[in-house]
Amino acid sequence: MRGLVLREIGVPLELSDGLELTPPGPGEVRVRLRAVGVCHSDLSLCNGTLPQPTPLVPGHEGAGEVVAVGEGVIRPQVGDHVVLSWIPPCGSCFFCLGGQPNLCPYNWQTNPRPVLSLEGEPVNSALGTGAFAEETVVPAAAAVPIPVDVPFEIAALVGCGVLTGVGAVLNTARVRPGESVVVIGCGGVGVNVLQGARLAGATPILAVDQLPGKLAGATGFGATHTATPDQIPEAIAELTGGLGFDNAFEVVGRSATIRQAWDATRRGGTTVVVGAGSLTDEVRFSAGELFLSEKRLLGSLYGSADVRTDFARMLRLWQGGRLDLEKLISRTIALDEVGEAFAAMERGEVIRSVINL
Ligand code: APR
Ligand code: ZN
Ligand code: ZN
Repeated sequence: MRGLVLREIGVPLELSDGLELTPPGPGEVRVRLRAVGVCHSDLSLCNGTLPQPTPLVPGHEGAGEVVAVGEGVIRPQVGDHVVLSWIPPCGSCFFCLGGQPNLCPYNWQTNPRPVLSLEGEPVNSALGTGAFAEETVVPAAAAVPIPVDVPFEIAALVGCGVLTGVGAVLNTARVRPGESVVVIGCGGVGVNVLQGARLAGATPILAVDQLPGKLAGATGFGATHTATPDQIPEAIAELTGGLGFDNAFEVVGRSATIRQAWDATRRGGTTVVVGAGSLTDEVRFSAGELFLSEKRLLGSLYGSADVRTDFARMLRLWQGGRLDLEKLISRTIALDEVGEAFAAMERGEVIRSVINL
């Protein structure tokens, strides 16, 4: 089958038509991908910011149709439309039973199973998903059924950017109506944090991005005010009477912007780190400021969500007109245009490019 292969970190993706996929084993399903979003984390996999062994098929924001199921699989069934989850919950561990299935480690993170090969050499599936290809084999829990009337492009986006962004507001921070919010980084995930904040009834909602072009778009996703990073102090004075924001969301994935988000919150305020940063990029806080300010710093992985119910919840919100998902799709592309989609993302020209397969 066809797919995009990263031979080693830093080299361009290669379109191959010789990828081989093993049949689904017990508890696994084979999915024919129909639409796949290009997320910044895919670029981070390709440039080494998020290290994974190569050769690698990136792609993790996907939707498609189940074409085969392995032994013992009851759900999903062949023909079901599914959204891929890049953290499939095992369903029985401490985290799954305790209401934090997004932290379940019993998947590719602790038990990688190679399902791809190229010319006899094993190839990794990024985040256990490997969605930049025509088909993939994943655990049944990674293929979550959705209604058949949802377009695949819409469904794909729910699989990462939408759930990560909206979930950070509703699940991680649990923002309440009338709380103030600042969002630093208004790309494909950041605009979903803005939409989530609007949904939660937050106000004011300040959108911050280094690219002024992103700020105009941010207003359409719920921002009540916008600022470039250097204008943050002014905005704090104007919008919060100098106190600082109740909630700050960092959606870039860098220590400098995490520090900026933290500094923009009030005493007792909450900073949520949504961006996927590098393991070696350290943020500094003094012991005294933590203690005296009583500020909170929260990580947010995959929107602190339970994909078994939250994919459907996002789609209901979209169907009810409460989330705008169409507007996230800047362009639809072919598989061999992902390299160009990365470049467009880096130039800040697109919210999401979506591959049609
Ligand atoms: N200050 C403010 N905004 C910044 C800064 C900065 N120093 N650096 C980058 N940005 C903005 C970019 O201009 C862009 O609008 O952050 C945004 C990032 O958006 P995308 O490239 O579309 O990335 P996205 O897919 O939204 O992912 C954001 O979340 O899932 C993770 O790995 C992903 O870490 C990444 C982050
Ligand atoms: Zn992603
Ligand atoms: Zn588990």
